[in-house]
Amino acid sequence: MAGRIPQHFIDDLLARVNIVDVVDSRIKLKRAGKNYSALCPFHKEKSPSFSVSPDKQFYYCFGCGAGGNALGFVMEHDRLSFPEAVDELARLVGMEVPKESLQPADSARDKQIKSQFSLLDKANQFYQQQLRASDQRQRAVNYLKQRGLTGQIAAQFQIGYAPPGWENLLDHLRSGDTAEQDLERAGLVIHNEERHSYYDRFRDRIMFPIRDMRGRTIGFGGRVLGDDKPKYLNSPETDTFHKGRELYGLYEARQSTRNLSRLLIVEGYMDVVSLSQHGITWSVATLGTATTAHHLERLFKLVPEVIFCFDGDQAGRTAARRALDTALPVIKDGQEARFLFLPEGEDPDTLVRQEGNTAFEQRVSEALPLSEFFFRALGEDSDLNSMDGRARFSTQALPLIQAMQPSLLQQMMMDRICEITGLSLEQLNSVIDLHRATAQPQAQPAQHTNGADSAPPPPPPHWDELPGESQAEPVRRPASRSVQISPVNSLISLLMHYPELANQSVAAEELSGIQEPNIDLLRALLAYFQADSRRSLGTLVVDWQAEPGLQSYLMLLNEITHQAPVLGDAGVAHLYQDTMQRLTGRNSDSQLDALMKKSRQAPLSSDEKTLLNRLLRERSGLH
Ligand code: UTP
Ligand code: MN
Repeated sequence: MAGRIPQHFIDDLLARVNIVDVVDSRIKLKRAGKNYSALCPFHKEKSPSFSVSPDKQFYYCFGCGAGGNALGFVMEHDRLSFPEAVDELARLVGMEVPKESLQPADSARDKQIKSQFSLLDKANQFYQQQLRASDQRQRAVNYLKQRGLTGQIAAQFQIGYAPPGWENLLDHLRSGDTAEQDLERAGLVIHNEERHSYYDRFRDRIMFPIRDMRGRTIGFGGRVLGDDKPKYLNSPETDTFHKGRELYGLYEARQSTRNLSRLLIVEGYMDVVSLSQHGITWSVATLGTATTAHHLERLFKLVPEVIFCFDGDQAGRTAARRALDTALPVIKDGQEARFLFLPEGEDPDTLVRQEGNTAFEQRVSEALPLSEFFFRALGEDSDLNSMDGRARFSTQALPLIQAMQPSLLQQMMMDRICEITGLSLEQLNSVIDLHRATAQPQAQPAQHTNGADSAPPPPPPHWDELPGESQAEPVRRPASRSVQISPVNSLISLLMHYPELANQSVAAEELSGIQEPNIDLLRALLAYFQADSRRSLGTLVVDWQAEPGLQSYLMLLNEITHQAPVLGDAGVAHLYQDTMQRLTGRNSDSQLDALMKKSRQAPLSSDEKTLLNRLLRERSGLH
């Protein structure tokens, strides 16, 4: 491991590069007053909300909230790690990155980790050598052959064999400068407290070394040759091995394909090896854990497409829903996740051996897009033919979608929910308010049952208690999952996305009597756009940053834009007018009519009317 890059070097580096040059060499910048603006490279947009400040050496996007210094920009834009981005910028300004200026504390730890890597490497060599030299090698080799592996693929994955016996590795590695404690720390041997002795962790097992991105062995998985339990034994968590981050086969996949375009996530070591043997050299396996957000973030830095592979049984479907929940907050524009379900009783290993490369690839190419799986999985929980079912559906779907990165996918899914439920975004939020308000503390959603709707209720939404939180690696998710969108915030968000709406809007001054959170901001925003129709988000960023009284609004604007996503372009003007009317409190009767007309399910059943009425009362109760 190269030494940590000292902070003073990074400060120097940032002082020497000009963020404007760095950004401008990647996306075309336009001067806008003191600052520069452009279409944001991190999300799709039609008018520029991306801004670069030469004074602050900082970039910021009001559409998607991306922001940071030159290093951050290069990391995000070029998809580089921090040290890689430092190298890149240093090259640009002709600076040499210092490699070995470690703090003393780091240095001791660094030494220890280095020696751990070296032990793991020696163990890896030993296990491979035992596959050729141990008395029992024939059993091991036969096992691998019987599983259809060639010597070549075994060599490529550095598959080895830990012979039977308690002290083979110990005897091989124990020496003057290698203490048993070091071997224990590396996860290779286990301490027996009573006997005050150590013994090999892996005995009579086929050994799969787990390698990091650079090819260094960081841990092992060991499989029994027969039916003993546990079938697989994995290295424990150590300084070098973190199950929630590492993926088996990633190094090998990158070695065999220069430009990976996709990666398949499977469950087992043997799946990866067997797939690779059949020419599918782009799979990785999680290490006996569910896929974490860490895993996904790492994979999406390497490839734009990730395909999850699951067994066709109930356990597979449960795992798939976990994966969905993990993937949703991670995926950004330009990235895709898909879901592949195998026939019941098969895993990738058995299947690819049975039907071969082409048929398996065909399955992969037919894997469900994330959005498809999302609507299928949630649709199963709710009867979409009843109003209540649709309400339940949106109660489950909306918070998940709101946890997503602002993206085209998110907007598309929002549109789709509106389509499925026949409700507008405003109405959907009311549905959620209603369910929140009437739900029992135990979270069984409110029932509006009549005779026709008497089937036993589907299970309550269980997304909240699903993965992430209970796992070693929590899913990162925006802190607030609230979907409460006030009319003021809705209007602000709409204006941010479509500043031209200001031209058809009531004048800013007309809002002066209203007492609502953020109303000042809405007024300022309207006044700003109404004063000059050539103004855009780009100019707003520049102008408000220069204005002490308005500067503080910028963060708030960004938050609101995130909390209140906007659907596609369709009906935006209408939505704006409706929301504005509701805010100004005029025409509440005709407003009711308009909203009722908007529910696209015609004719309305009496049940639906009741619900709609309740929604509307709920809304009007807000102000
Ligand atoms: P499976 O039980 O599905 O085994 O475990 P497999 O991959 O099909 O193995 P083979 O084909 O019988 O050799 C899937 C993965 O779960 C983890 C391992 O990572 C394994 O590859 N696992 C399984 C364990 O960690 N320990 C176990 O005892 C079993
Ligand atoms: Mn298997």
